[in-house]
Amino acid sequence: MFRGFADVKILLDEQQLNKGVEQLARSINQFYGLRPVTIIGVMTGSVILLADLIRKLDMPLRVGVLQTASYRGTQRGPLTINSEMILDVANREVLLIDDIFDTGNTLNAVIDMIHHLGPKSIQSAVLLQKTGKQQVELRPDFVAFDIPDEFVVGYGLDYNDEYRNLPHLACLEADDLPGADREN
Ligand code: IMP
Ligand code: MG
Repeated sequence: MFRGFADVKILLDEQQLNKGVEQLARSINQFYGLRPVTIIGVMTGSVILLADLIRKLDMPLRVGVLQTASYRGTQRGPLTINSEMILDVANREVLLIDDIFDTGNTLNAVIDMIHHLGPKSIQSAVLLQKTGKQQVELRPDFVAFDIPDEFVVGYGLDYNDEYRNLPHLACLEADDLPGADREN
């Protein structure tokens, strides 16, 4: 069910998000300097972050995307990765961009897949990291915000593929979640 935008609790407003993305960009600019970077956005949740972040980066860069999905209905299903990337990553410095680091399984699997393509390096940047949820050793190299374990939507993140266009980050209430059809 689509809830009106007025109903949702704002966790991070537009100004806070913008500051977080600016800080993320500063760290990434500092790390790479002017070395060329191949950016890979993990779709679909990273779509807004990807657009905002790359405009704040100073180095020469190429942008590609790959599609992942890990939820079917209310159940976490097998993670699928559409790896038909147009961009070659062999011998490139690769920076993965994702919306949220939750269990970490998605980014872990994506990094594993990219690793087999022979990049020079792989780093990862996420907008959000959920506190205490991680099931893997890996941690993202760049994180804009650590957030509590709540289901969040907006700024690219969805619930039933809706809410991605919210300009802020909002929490959905627990009674909205049964029947969730989460995709990435
Ligand atoms: P993982 O658990 O780290 O593998 O995260 C899987 C994917 O689920 C993330 O990339 C997001 O696209 C999505 N996801 C995880 N938590 C949330 C949330 O709170 N709201 C919306 N999507 C989420
Ligand atoms: Mg995602």
